[in-house]
Amino acid sequence: MKQLSEQEILFFKEEGYLIKRQVMDPELMARARKQMWENAPAHMRPDAPDTWIGPIESHRDDNGNVRGGYSWKFRQIGSKDWIVYMLATDPAIWRMAEQLLGVGNVTIPDRIRGIYCVLPQGDIPEKPTTCHTDGHPFHLGVVGYIDDVQPGGGGFTVWPKSHRQLYFDFHSSHRSEPTEQHQQNIDHFNHQPYIDCHGQAGDIVFWHHRLAHAAGHNRSQQIRKAVLYDFRRKDMEQMMEEPPSQDMWRDWPGIPS
Ligand SMILES: [Fe+2]
Repeated sequence: MKQLSEQEILFFKEEGYLIKRQVMDPELMARARKQMWENAPAHMRPDAPDTWIGPIESHRDDNGNVRGGYSWKFRQIGSKDWIVYMLATDPAIWRMAEQLLGVGNVTIPDRIRGIYCVLPQGDIPEKPTTCHTDGHPFHLGVVGYIDDVQPGGGGFTVWPKSHRQLYFDFHSSHRSEPTEQHQQNIDHFNHQPYIDCHGQAGDIVFWHHRLAHAAGHNRSQQIRKAVLYDFRRKDMEQMMEEPPSQDMWRDWPGIPS
């Protein structure tokens, strides 16, 4: 069964991202939110929005959880089977990743990154949103919202079409080995318009691994609660040794040239 239409695939190819609405399982999202609150910093309470506003004190523990400022990365939960299913291996999502990267080509995950929260900024002056590319090796990123994210609410923010330049700004196809051109292009995209991918609980955003992106500043009253995973092909290790391919879609059999 095809999950992505031809039009959606072409949109992803051109723009570097694609939003799919209402994909994740509501019961699993409720479980994720509940466990998130059970592990919240002591001063934060689910029934008291005033306690959600950042910044918060820096803290990291042995389970990989990291928080500080306006960020709270609850990573420990990322290895639970049910949350891996919710964002990555649920057939509704898995088939989309395989449709792009090829059936049988995608590494089966043993964890996702976790729940990444962006705390409300309260009434501090608004700062500019600046982009970056990620350094770790993967092909297809996915961000899923386990709660509603309003416009300006810390949604995943993308610079459309930037992947088509930034892909070639590295010495390696997937390692973090930027050329000099990379920073110049990042500076360029920082002056270009971006898209704030706000949405509702259950929505997911696919994105190309070299797309310029950012976690938006959260100007809303809600905590931005997202789950993140990075799909990669099984032949990644060999690919990392190679420079960017002249055909940047070589490893994407589902994307027409
Ligand atoms: Fe990033």
